[in-house]
Amino acid sequence: LERQTKEPILKGRRVLVSAGPTKEKIDPVRYFTNHSTGKMGFALAAEAAKMGAEVTLVSGPVSLATPPGVTRIDVETAEQMYRAMMDQFDGKDVVIKAAAVADYRPASTYEEKMKKQPGDWTVEMERTKDILQELGKRKQQQYLVGFAAETIHPLQYGRKKLETKNLDAIVINNIKTKGAGFGTDKNEVTYINNQGLEKTIELAEKTEVAGHILELISIALKDESR
Ligand code: CTP
Ligand code: CA
Repeated sequence: LERQTKEPILKGRRVLVSAGPTKEKIDPVRYFTNHSTGKMGFALAAEAAKMGAEVTLVSGPVSLATPPGVTRIDVETAEQMYRAMMDQFDGKDVVIKAAAVADYRPASTYEEKMKKQPGDWTVEMERTKDILQELGKRKQQQYLVGFAAETIHPLQYGRKKLETKNLDAIVINNIKTKGAGFGTDKNEVTYINNQGLEKTIELAEKTEVAGHILELISIALKDESR
């Protein structure tokens, strides 16, 4: 049986988590999205609440129940997620961006369903805002944690994202690890922070991985006397 109460190491902390994919509409029946069930982000929100934090969860479209004690804000598109995260950002102590945000969206959307035509169809795509990078620019007291999904050179790319997005820590997912990541209940990640700590969290239930990540964050908060 799962423990319901954890050490209250995040007591009084205000934690903001984003989870799930975003869905970018082309027409009323078609959309672009990213591969994500939201399980890792929801596990982080649930564990943070058990550790005593006041948790707000900004979620893309997922089919998961809201964890006990967590305030949930539902969004669909990257633009809506950007607005919700910006609205919620001030006054938070820890912000974790576990969402799989679409990097591109259709440049225009159609009010009515597009009828298929003979031949191919090209959809013009435009960039969405990099939400995490915008949060990195606006960061004050927030301990800002990103995620990285990589198929090759996970550590190099992860370190680069830590730096360019002005993060305090990053959780790197090697999405080719067997039995981990998208759609599964387990994950194996490498956690890196801006103090040079590099720690591999071995393959485990996402709940357990979330617990380790939050523990590492709370240690950093203490060390930096935040
Ligand atoms: N992210 C974001 N807004 C975006 C794209 C990504 O906030 N428009 C965040 C994700 O939530 C994640 C981090 O940035 O915390 C890294 O996402 P990832 O897709 O791994 O990296 P990108 O910076 O988008 O670069 P690329 O996809 O080219 O590797
Ligand atoms: Ca991306």
